[in-house]
Amino acid sequence: MAKEYKRYLVTSALPYANGPVHIGHLAGVYVPSDIYVRYLRLRGKDVVWVCGSDEHGVPITIKARREGVTPQDVVDKYNAIIKKSFEGLGISFDIYSRTTSPTHRVTASEFFRTLYDKGEFVQQTSQQYYDPEAKTFLADRYITGTCPKCGSEGAYGDQCEKCGSTLNATDLINPKSTISGAAPELRDTTHWFLPLDKHEAMLREWILEGHKEWKSNVYGQCKSWLDGGLQPRAVSRDLDWGIPVPVEGAEGKVLYVWFDAPIGYISATKDLTPDWEKYWKSEDTKMVHFIGKDNIVFHCIVFPAMLKAHGDYILPENVPANEFLNLEGDKISTSKNWAVWLNEYLEDMPGKEDVLRYVLCANAPETKDNDFTWKDYQARNNNELVAVLGNFVNRAMVLTAKYFEGKVPAAGELTDFDREILAELPKLRTAVEENIENYRFREALKEAMNIARLGNKYLADTEPWKVIKTDEARVATILNVALQITANLAVVIEPFMPFTATKLLRMLGVESLSWEQAGSSDILAAGHTLGKAELLFEKIEDSVIEAQVAKLQAAKAANEAAAKPVEPQKAEISFDDFEKLDIRIGTVVEAEKVAKTKKLLKLLVDTGIDRRTIVSGIAEHFSPEELVGRQVMVLVNLAPRELKGIESRGMILMAEDATGKLVMVPPTEPVRNGSQVG
Ligand code: MF3
Ligand code: ZN
Repeated sequence: MAKEYKRYLVTSALPYANGPVHIGHLAGVYVPSDIYVRYLRLRGKDVVWVCGSDEHGVPITIKARREGVTPQDVVDKYNAIIKKSFEGLGISFDIYSRTTSPTHRVTASEFFRTLYDKGEFVQQTSQQYYDPEAKTFLADRYITGTCPKCGSEGAYGDQCEKCGSTLNATDLINPKSTISGAAPELRDTTHWFLPLDKHEAMLREWILEGHKEWKSNVYGQCKSWLDGGLQPRAVSRDLDWGIPVPVEGAEGKVLYVWFDAPIGYISATKDLTPDWEKYWKSEDTKMVHFIGKDNIVFHCIVFPAMLKAHGDYILPENVPANEFLNLEGDKISTSKNWAVWLNEYLEDMPGKEDVLRYVLCANAPETKDNDFTWKDYQARNNNELVAVLGNFVNRAMVLTAKYFEGKVPAAGELTDFDREILAELPKLRTAVEENIENYRFREALKEAMNIARLGNKYLADTEPWKVIKTDEARVATILNVALQITANLAVVIEPFMPFTATKLLRMLGVESLSWEQAGSSDILAAGHTLGKAELLFEKIEDSVIEAQVAKLQAAKAANEAAAKPVEPQKAEISFDDFEKLDIRIGTVVEAEKVAKTKKLLKLLVDTGIDRRTIVSGIAEHFSPEELVGRQVMVLVNLAPRELKGIESRGMILMAEDATGKLVMVPPTEPVRNGSQVG
């Protein structure tokens, strides 16, 4: 028999406050955990759900430096964006905290100090790169150089993004500090390490023996870490952003972000309730960590070792980590701007919060990486939410309004078919329950939607719109059944689509329903007055989807362009070479498109010397109208060329950026045509 717990403590990975949250985070962590917690609340369980921003670590300092602001500015900005967007999607944390909060600073400090005092750390001195100009030790990400594996420039001290190799900073050829540009030198530095090897036996027993029921991706990763043998891991860093190491002689050292961040779960619980200890320190609490697969080792190996070393805390009962969500076939990447950002989605698609929740759950990467595409998003909205759920509820509501003035009609005698249909409801409820409790949210959602499918089938088979002509009493029974199915839906879809559930309750004229009512065939009493029918979902047109795809492409292109290095300088030329170029200012007098071409414009230009025809490949960047009357730079002594049967005599000079966009270089004020440029 599974153990009965008195209460639940649910945690969701603290997102880094160095960018907004995207659909990958949502599908992997926040949508599933929200479903789980909403379900527990509907069941009346004692549950607290904590989250917050992870605000320390090197990437935040890098972002700050790049943008010329402080790390605090960076985290303030993104913490606000993230918190607001979670609320917008109905992600219902009991608290959304931050690791720069005063409570957290004290909690993490004390945690470290307790382990330190108990002798749970080992101290080790090693050599690390130091920037002699900036007078600071350098995190791996702050060092670049030539990759020893593939020879490409600009590899980082921890990784080469060209060939994907994991590196040590000391492997780099010609290392350079990205802070000052100086060549770093190796210096001795002392850090505290958590000897994971000391906890290996406990972890083996606890996970490999005790938690064979964990998801196979999680169990498998743990097993391979454990089989590989655990090593001591540094829990401090030489950095000026973070929680100071609370030990004498540790100036300039802070807690490693992966040491302080999970303690953030504890601090958040403290900020939520004075009763926090009963959630963290009682074996009657079921603790569940929702995370993405890149966090498995920290939540299953490192944090449990920390908790055990401390001594007072319980360990997680489960860690249902998800795999990754890709986007339109490519890995989601914050740095490459290949993502659908939650804050932007909420602005672009108002009222479609549940559509995103639905799609991300229906397609969640529970057992393998999955792909999000806008086409699939559209199809699921149109074919499932509109055609199945929306359609059923709408028919039940509209027919009741039409035939029974919006009051729940009393059911007469039930037919065998009615009974068969109603008998499905408790089965579906149980199926949803079992799937949620075992972290199979896609399957759970499918079963919840099966209630709407059942309703559609029921109406299609009973055809009340036909029967009304002959047998009103039978229609009363049919619609009573249909409305009981609708009420079941209102309960069961709440964890998945809370906005829709709220609308459904309003439509049914009901304040609230509890999970225990699901499965029942008499949730709504005869004679009860329904509310007004509302639109639950609307069809999404191709143009909306195309705009989103175009937006993605544009964001990525802009980002790639910004990352492209500027063209290197060409071979040196003499002054005489330069003197050969005759560049003049001219005015465009006439402009027209060259027929049957996409790129070419035929221009008549007054060069001061003459009026001449120049054919220019700029039609995609400028319209003929906007060019006429403009002054331009013209290379006038370029040998004539024939283009599409037109003789072109000269070249208009423009700047081309990394995306291929052309920008005019006109004089800053009008000058006489024929003026020489040089
Ligand atoms: N910020 C980390 C990430 O996004 C997750 C931290 S989870 C915590 O990968 F447990 F450390 F808080
Ligand atoms: Zn490389």
